[in-house]
Amino acid sequence: MNQDHNVTLYLAPIRGITDALYRNTFVRYFSGFDLAMAPFVSTQQGNRIKPGHLRDLETEKNRALPIIPQILSKDPDHFITLAQALIDQGHKQINWNLGCPYPMVANKKRGSGLLPYPNRIASFLEKIKKLPVDLSIKTRLGRFQADEILQLLPIFNNFPLTELIIHPRTGKQMYKGKVDLKTFGQCLEQSRHPVIYNGDITDEGVFLQLKDRFKKVEGWMIGRAALADPFLPARIKKIPLQRDKRELIRLFHDDIFSRYQKILFGPSHILGRMKGLWFYLSQSFTNSRKILKKIQKTKSLQKYNEIVKQIFSEEEWIR
Ligand SMILES: Cc1cc2nc3c(=O)[nH]c(=O)nc-3n(C[C@H](O)[C@H](O)[C@H](O)COP(=O)(O)O)c2cc1C
Repeated sequence: MNQDHNVTLYLAPIRGITDALYRNTFVRYFSGFDLAMAPFVSTQQGNRIKPGHLRDLETEKNRALPIIPQILSKDPDHFITLAQALIDQGHKQINWNLGCPYPMVANKKRGSGLLPYPNRIASFLEKIKKLPVDLSIKTRLGRFQADEILQLLPIFNNFPLTELIIHPRTGKQMYKGKVDLKTFGQCLEQSRHPVIYNGDITDEGVFLQLKDRFKKVEGWMIGRAALADPFLPARIKKIPLQRDKRELIRLFHDDIFSRYQKILFGPSHILGRMKGLWFYLSQSFTNSRKILKKIQKTKSLQKYNEIVKQIFSEEEWIR
């Protein structure tokens, strides 16, 4: 089987999970991703930058898997402040988040909440285009309606974007319902920028169908399915496995667990992180619901260790 070098795969940003520690540990055990988009950062009240927010994005911390940092903002001056700090860190590309669907964000006209306002988006881009950095946008199709994006594409086309990453859902859909491939196809035809597809690439079969249908797509971004099944990007690229899957997952788990114990204080923080991880990983084990329930109930590291030991000795990896 030949490896597929023509496919570019991005790890999607999943806030609360795909931080630098996760990304670096991931690539120690699994292959296939070419780069990752980091979860968004934003300024604090009064256009202040919280230094902790930028620490995860330092280029020397992200050598194993190159990253594109992402900013969530509706204020061009705030965007410029943050972008400048990211440029100082050595980043060559910055992404603007126009996709976040959570009402707390969208109601304030941030993320997908900006999509019904083409004029605001145009004037935002006008103000930030002077930044000496490549800009890309990650967007949904709209906040309320899938055709909101059709008003936006001429605006996007007017600015020198490096790429446009499209998750073909509306903000209102959150993560439910189907991806709208028909409207995605229209976007692909109308965009003068390279388009990256993102959303519900759940296995290599789905990927192949999408690749066959949308030949102009220049890259593919995978989030939740890769968190549940970290072997998926390698399968898509036909990279052979060197070791037993369950053994690799165990090594990955133990590694990430011990690293979180070194940087986080107190069992509740550490367990919080591990529970987030298991929300996805459990989906690839037999008795997934039972496993997840047990993990979610855990309050001590000792009990957590016992449960994990039991999972790896009793359950099968099903992917
Ligand atoms: C818990 C969670 C956190 C997310 N955080 C971000 C984020 O910080 N920035 C962003 O652009 N998208 C974020 N997303 C959206 C994903 O990057 C991606 O667009 C979405 O999950 C669809 O892709 P998938 O079906 O491959 O997961 C998040 C999604 C989830 C479920």
